Amino acid sequence: MSERAAKVIAFCRDLAVCSEEPGRTTRTFLSPPMRDVHRMLGEWMCRAGMEVSIDAAGNLRGVRRGHSKRRLLIASHLDTVPNAGAFDGILGVVLGVALVEAMAGHESGITVEVVGFSEEEGVRFGIPFIGSRAVAGTLDETILTPPVLDAIRAFGLDPGGLPDARLSPDTVAYLEFHIEQGPVLESLGLPLGIVDGIVGQSRLSVTFEGTANHAGTTPMAPRKDALAAAAEWICHIEAFAAAKPGLVATAGAITVEPNAANVIPGMVRVSLDVRHALDEIRRGSAVDLVHAAERICERRGITPGHSQLLDQPAVIMDAVLRNKLASSVEAVGYPVHHMMSGAGHDAMILAPHLPAAMLFLRSPGGVSHHPDESVIAADVEAAIEAGLRFANNV
Ligand code: HGY
Ligand code: MN
Ligand code: MN
Repeated sequence: MSERAAKVIAFCRDLAVCSEEPGRTTRTFLSPPMRDVHRMLGEWMCRAGMEVSIDAAGNLRGVRRGHSKRRLLIASHLDTVPNAGAFDGILGVVLGVALVEAMAGHESGITVEVVGFSEEEGVRFGIPFIGSRAVAGTLDETILTPPVLDAIRAFGLDPGGLPDARLSPDTVAYLEFHIEQGPVLESLGLPLGIVDGIVGQSRLSVTFEGTANHAGTTPMAPRKDALAAAAEWICHIEAFAAAKPGLVATAGAITVEPNAANVIPGMVRVSLDVRHALDEIRRGSAVDLVHAAERICERRGITPGHSQLLDQPAVIMDAVLRNKLASSVEAVGYPVHHMMSGAGHDAMILAPHLPAAMLFLRSPGGVSHHPDESVIAADVEAAIEAGLRFANNV
């Protein structure tokens, strides 16, 4: 195993200990363990000769100046889903620092900035991509809600500094390394994949307002059980998506009030995540699913409600950079495989603003958003080698 690949993997596993929950990895936007990640990664960035800072959105940033002002941005996210693995997001940041370290002692034309985005998963506030949106300059009042601003202040940061978090005008390209989070590369026996595009995402919050009442004394007939209505709708989502090729739809988070065994549920909130490569199908499906919730509610005497939290269009990665990445992978001695990403990535936020590329690393077992997530050391080494070639050629 190469020493630098082993170091990358060990570092990711060490960072996975920085968690809000003992015994498992859960690290949301600007939660206390994010400080430990900033400290540990920041120290490594310093040792690798980078100027380190934290911007007003809580993004960790390290810059290695080359002879040229032209800047390559290498980034991914530092936050996690609940009970996460050790590699989703943070591998892309750690690989960026490893790449800079590998450049030490070599002439380097281009300036490299490595950014660990503070938020991508949307776990803490239901709104994803806060970190990369700050860098893209696309944060607005729908994202910067009072709770988000309070979280920024509570972390000791000043929201007034958010405009300074924007991308340096010298940035000419964006590169994101990420685990594939699916089974394709493994099934092909390939370590690396070139991402051609990323499917769009809709995220909504759907509410079911019924009537809470005594579970023992209220007969079944007149009940307005919000959870029973939500359950019917959740099963409908599954059947609806299964019947549409290429569509995935998920009710992943649910809150029930008052959430007691002996009270009929009065209020339920369900998250809805809808994805498809074609934005028209994704948006139409989200509308159909909201209408289905309304029909179920009408039949059951329940009041429906919904709010849209995200309508993120699908993006295509830059054609020139895709080719450069493909040549870099070939130069390292591996076949080139092009693929779409079903997962969302910070690259989709940056891609409208500058040429962007993504390199996937094989996910053993296709496992992700799960503690068993892993990477293969030889694949990490291949990614570093390909990344070095890409950085020299961009
Ligand atoms: O939800 C996603 O696709 C990503 O893992 N953030
Ligand atoms: Mn993720
Ligand atoms: Mn990710």
